[in-house]
Amino acid sequence: MTRRFPEGFLWGAATASYQIEGAVAEDGRSESVWDRFCRIPGRVLNGDTGDVACDHYHRWRDDIRIMEDLGLSAYRFSVAWPRVVPQGRGPVNQAGLDFYDRLVDGLLEAGIEPFLTLFHWDLPQCLEDEGGWRVRGTAHAFADYAAAVESRLGDRVRHWLTLNEPWVVAHLGHRTGQHAPGLVGSGAELDVVHHQLLGHGLASQALRAGHSGHEVGIALNLEPRIPRSDHPLDRDAAALEEGLMNRWFLDPLFSGRYPDDLLAIAGWPASAVTEGDLEIIGRPPDSIGLNYYRTEVVGHPGLRDCDRPPPLQDPAAEVTEMGWPVTPEGLGAMLRMLEGYGARAVYVTENGAAYPDTIRGGDRVEDEDRRSYLERHLVEAAKAIDDGVPLRGYFAWTLLDNFEWGFGYSRRFGLVHVDHATQRRTPKASAYWYRDVIARNAV
Ligand code: FCB
Repeated sequence: MTRRFPEGFLWGAATASYQIEGAVAEDGRSESVWDRFCRIPGRVLNGDTGDVACDHYHRWRDDIRIMEDLGLSAYRFSVAWPRVVPQGRGPVNQAGLDFYDRLVDGLLEAGIEPFLTLFHWDLPQCLEDEGGWRVRGTAHAFADYAAAVESRLGDRVRHWLTLNEPWVVAHLGHRTGQHAPGLVGSGAELDVVHHQLLGHGLASQALRAGHSGHEVGIALNLEPRIPRSDHPLDRDAAALEEGLMNRWFLDPLFSGRYPDDLLAIAGWPASAVTEGDLEIIGRPPDSIGLNYYRTEVVGHPGLRDCDRPPPLQDPAAEVTEMGWPVTPEGLGAMLRMLEGYGARAVYVTENGAAYPDTIRGGDRVEDEDRRSYLERHLVEAAKAIDDGVPLRGYFAWTLLDNFEWGFGYSRRFGLVHVDHATQRRTPKASAYWYRDVIARNAV
């Protein structure tokens, strides 16, 4: 069955600065936490770094041409804070902004709508040295940086996303240590969330004080959690995890409060919260970006399998190369949840999958698994629109195979294959399929 998308639906792909740009020491860019993290032995697979990445900083014109060939109507990218404000706060480096200025003009000339993310994890290392997101000052520095970007690009960029996945920065960066800054069990996780949300609120104010007509949002990774069985302990465990991933962010953003039930369980003293913070955070965003990859089944760790009633659901039979279950229905569930919060406009700002793609015959990459993943998720997106979810666009993660954080270059999420030795770009079969979806505005 063919499912059509509404007229004007935006079709895009997403990337992030540290994952594709390279040129880490050019035109005044300073060190970011990811530059530092990559140099700690054993933290990133194969010792990979973003030093060169996809060399997009020099090849952006070619990359826009690829987007044009695919027929993209939108492109989500992020700005590197260390390029624009190398000292984290204070003087603005116009040479760093020049790059994004040219990129935005190039996109607009190609008829591609820019979606700009201000923070996709590459915090200036100098701010980390002062406490990073564990301290409040970073939220204020972020708002000043947002204002600097807005004053240069706000006459042409209409769609803004403040932060990408604050949960990941807090959880993987400050609890498990899998991401920069690599802190294990810092205990600061919820302070880090709060300061990021405050940064979002302050940056939103700064953006709205600039040119008029901006749509200001935030990109969140939201995921359903399904209890392993009907046992009350499993149900509670799943509800708690889901609450901490989803409601902990959505409640303050949409209603200016952290969820009372979770506050009681989390044991967070909330000393980071100052009077007035939640009003700043809780002015609802104009848009929500949903980054969706998977749904996980959760069981209570103390419960033995023999004490559990039968599983509620068979575990997803299919996983991607990340080991992430393929669970398209979860996308629909999260979209409907956002509608329940009263979200005015929603974009799927990331969705995609890693598979071990290989080039055949020099120029063919047959990634049927990725095509099928994307197609099944788009069907769920279309159903959600039919149900009334104000979904305005979809961004595949990602345009180019790139630096996949702790996994380095070993995981390929791109629609376009990149030979990391030569920088040769080769659209995969999924890219040609996506081009057809875009052309037909239907899946
Ligand atoms: C998301 C990140 C993105 C990419 C995908 C696979 O969590 O936002 O940069 O790494 O996962």
